Amino acid sequence: MSAVPWPPGLRLEPLAKTHRRKDFDCGQPLVNDWLRSRALQHQTKRLSSTKALIDDRQRVVGFYTLATGQVDFSDLPAELVKKLPHRLLPVAILAWLGLHKSWQRQGLGARLLAQALADCHTAGQLFPFVAIILDCVDAAAKSFYESYDFTELPGRPYRLFLSATQLEAMFNS
Ligand SMILES: CC(C)(COP(=O)(O)OP(=O)(O)OC[C@H]1O[C@@H](n2cnc3c(N)ncnc32)[C@H](O)[C@@H]1OP(=O)(O)O)[C@@H](O)C(=O)NCCC(=O)NCCS
Repeated sequence: MSAVPWPPGLRLEPLAKTHRRKDFDCGQPLVNDWLRSRALQHQTKRLSSTKALIDDRQRVVGFYTLATGQVDFSDLPAELVKKLPHRLLPVAILAWLGLHKSWQRQGLGARLLAQALADCHTAGQLFPFVAIILDCVDAAAKSFYESYDFTELPGRPYRLFLSATQLEAMFNS
């Protein structure tokens, strides 16, 4: 996968104070609230990092948030952990992703996801993890991610994963 192209006038930047977040509306209140009220604070505290796709007036068109975490080996599918130690295992977390309503259904959500996966792949060269994990906010988000090969974790229908091996294969193909 090479660098993700954006439409003219849009650019991707680390979330900054100057970005206009208050009018962001992706149609999902939880996701809006995260961007408007918490994403920057969490970034300042180094709990997560957010990249914002912004237009030439500093309005946020879309964004995604990444973080690190751990899951117990018993929460992951047997085929993924069969040679791994029985303890907490490192994961990358795709914590949030959203696109402003007026930009949806034009392929930009897919491009944001591709860039988030590229960031995970780059980070994974230095800080390895066994999978990317995410929690879906609703059934629509779930079908979006499933169409990009994310699968349910056992017994957790709204928690999806993509293994590091799958991620590696995407970038080597
Ligand atoms: C999920 C979201 C980012 C998708 O962005 P988008 O730009 O509209 O999606 P795209 O145009 O890139 O579509 C990519 C693919 O996903 C599918 N898709 C998009 N939205 C979908 C939905 N709501 N339900 C099912 N499939 C969907 C598209 O059909 C497309 O598939 P195709 O290439 O086979 O046609 C956007 O709808 C959004 O911000 N939703 C609200 C916030 C949210 O749910 N975030 C995710 C959880 S944090």
